[in-house]
Amino acid sequence: MKEFKSYRYSVITILTIVALVFVFTRCMNKDTEPAGVIKNAAGKQFAGSATCANCHKNIYDHHLKTAHYLTTRIAAEEYIRGSFENGKNTYAYDDEKLVAVERRGNGFYQVEYNQGTEKTAHRIDIVIGSGTMGQSFLTWENDQLFQLPITYFTAAHEWSNSPGYPNKIIFNRPITSRCLECHSTFAKTTSNNETGPEKFVPSQMIYGVDCEKCHGPAGQHVDFQSKNPAIQTAKYIINPARLSRQQNLDLCASCHGGRLKKTRPSFEFTVGDTLSHFFDLDTSAPDPAKIDVHGNQYGLLRASKCFRKSETLTCNTCHNPHDVEKGNTALFSSRCITCHSAGHEKICAMTSAIGRSIKNNCIDCHMPLKPSRAIAVFLPRESSPTAALIRSHYISIYPGETKQVLQFLNQKH
Ligand code: HEC
Ligand code: HEC
Ligand code: HEC
Ligand code: HEC
Ligand code: HEC
Ligand code: HEC
Ligand code: HEC
Repeated sequence: MKEFKSYRYSVITILTIVALVFVFTRCMNKDTEPAGVIKNAAGKQFAGSATCANCHKNIYDHHLKTAHYLTTRIAAEEYIRGSFENGKNTYAYDDEKLVAVERRGNGFYQVEYNQGTEKTAHRIDIVIGSGTMGQSFLTWENDQLFQLPITYFTAAHEWSNSPGYPNKIIFNRPITSRCLECHSTFAKTTSNNETGPEKFVPSQMIYGVDCEKCHGPAGQHVDFQSKNPAIQTAKYIINPARLSRQQNLDLCASCHGGRLKKTRPSFEFTVGDTLSHFFDLDTSAPDPAKIDVHGNQYGLLRASKCFRKSETLTCNTCHNPHDVEKGNTALFSSRCITCHSAGHEKICAMTSAIGRSIKNNCIDCHMPLKPSRAIAVFLPRESSPTAALIRSHYISIYPGETKQVLQFLNQKH
């Protein structure tokens, strides 16, 4: 067994060297870019967020922990949230068929079994989702990406059938560039067909929603600031703080604006652009009852009075894009109070009923968690799907939730 293994490793080593020599000679022969250079559709060069660490260390260190950064990563133990432990690593479709996640050599696999016999195994190459709600897994095959059948569902700490899948083991659901437009910073496509198989260049991907998604490709900025360390003003970089309200909203809405239909090729929209030039937007008044809480914070916010009656409210009024603030209810409430305090906007009609603790929690009453219709999965032993709970961005008055919060407050006293 040991001999077999070392034989296999030496074959792998030789193959790797051959592949590397091949790649290097190809790069040198072609008078195009040196290996590793990634440019967007407009020819602007990315620098990669690791370079930002040299001069913006604090922002960089915080950013590595955000759901944005973690939303796509190359598969590695530190990024996979689900369990590989025997007994906890499977999802059974019926008494005979199941899928297990297994560690084999240096890789991670989803393996289909029928009555205990292995049928097929596919490598987990990419993790999609920070794991706040759950994680799905992608595999490469001939420069195409496919979603693997089972997904980790965080709320239940269990493996489940991937959302939207019938109760059947499916290994061939293609991942399109639309998926990656919301879950990564850049992916070079070699074909652009939303319905047919789309191909990518695996070495030309920037995983995660990274700095350069929100600030634009920064190759020139890094180059300039590195060569001119004495200059302490910035060049060749976009700071959204200086863009208009609508430009700021459009940046976030490109991924948090629901299912938009593209009118231009993938990844052409860049921070500062007008979203409607790249997507078909629904400009009618949004109806909060019809909007799913998943993936369309912009639609729900736009329906809220806070948004309609204010001239400044954007996503950044409540969210600091560089930090992890989830769960910090008091901090979010303090942002409501920047507007809703004596002398400014109306204050809460419940203020006297609740007392001083009100300042710690506006959101459980006015932005409650609601089940998503789009993100619901089948858990083992359950016959109906379980939905993910997501904060509604329709800021409004919710009598049911108010009752629950008041009951909870009364119990505490
Ligand atoms: C060699 C140093 C250096 C590197 C590397 C660098 N920056 Fe900067 N950056 C600066 C300086 C200097 C400023 C101006 C002072 C400030 O705002 O901190 C700046 C400012 C900025 C600003 C604010 C611009 C404005 O107009 O207010 C952004 C955004 C920014 N950088 C993003 C990035 C990103 C993203 C990266 C990595 C891809 C990066 N920087 C890498 C030096 C650098
Ligand atoms: C390229 C697409 C993209 C852009 C642009 C984008 N987001 Fe996101 N955002 C995502 C995705 C995908 C997630 C889910 C990440 C996960 O949990 O895997 C997310 C998650 C979040 C979260 C939840 C964080 C948490 O801790 O759970 C907040 C808040 C958020 N985004 C705010 C913003 C704001 C504000 C902007 C604009 C400044 C913005 N996003 C721009 C794609 C994007
Ligand atoms: C229009 C943008 C958009 C598209 C397209 C999109 N997503 Fe998402 N996805 C989001 C946002 C935003 C979130 C998190 C916030 C929310 O639920 O509103 C999210 C959340 C997720 C999560 C849960 C992450 C976590 O842990 O919280 C997974 C897994 C996921 N998406 C997978 C996919 C896959 C696979 C595809 C393609 C088939 C896809 N998404 C297409 C925007 C998008
Ligand atoms: C989800 C979008 C998003 C991501 C990802 C992001 N930023 Fe920002 N960044 C912003 C926004 C929005 C502002 C302006 C905030 C405001 O209104 O003050 C900003 C401001 C800045 C500034 C100006 C100074 C400051 O502190 O406000 C710098 C520098 C900066 N970002 C660097 C980075 C770097 C470096 C990364 C990656 C490590 C990064 N950003 C990732 C959205 C983002
Ligand atoms: C940029 C300022 C601003 C911020 C920040 C803000 N609001 Fe508002 N909000 C408003 C304005 C303006 C109105 C409309 C007041 C009116 O009717 O005159 C409003 C209205 C409301 C209403 C009444 C809604 C209705 O349908 O009757 C509620 C409830 C509310 N806000 C709660 C919140 C909560 C909770 C937060 C924080 C999560 C928040 N607001 C953050 C400006 C803001
Ligand atoms: C008035 C304040 C406010 C505004 C404006 C706002 N948010 Fe939020 N957002 C919140 C609060 C509060 C939460 C819940 C945070 C928590 O879970 O602790 C939240 C959560 C989120 C989440 C995670 C949802 C979940 O349940 O996992 C996403 C994604 C998000 N916001 C995106 C956005 C985007 C995009 C915009 C702009 C279109 C926006 N938000 C505008 C207050 C706001
Ligand atoms: C226990 C639940 C609860 C909490 C906590 C709460 N609210 Fe309210 N709020 C309500 C209810 C219910 C109403 C409507 C009361 C009515 O119309 O009689 C309301 C009304 C409002 C209004 C509309 C006032 C008007 O005159 O039209 C605003 C604005 C508001 N709340 C903001 C806030 C803010 C900001 C916070 C946090 C500091 C907060 N609320 C905390 C339940 C709550």
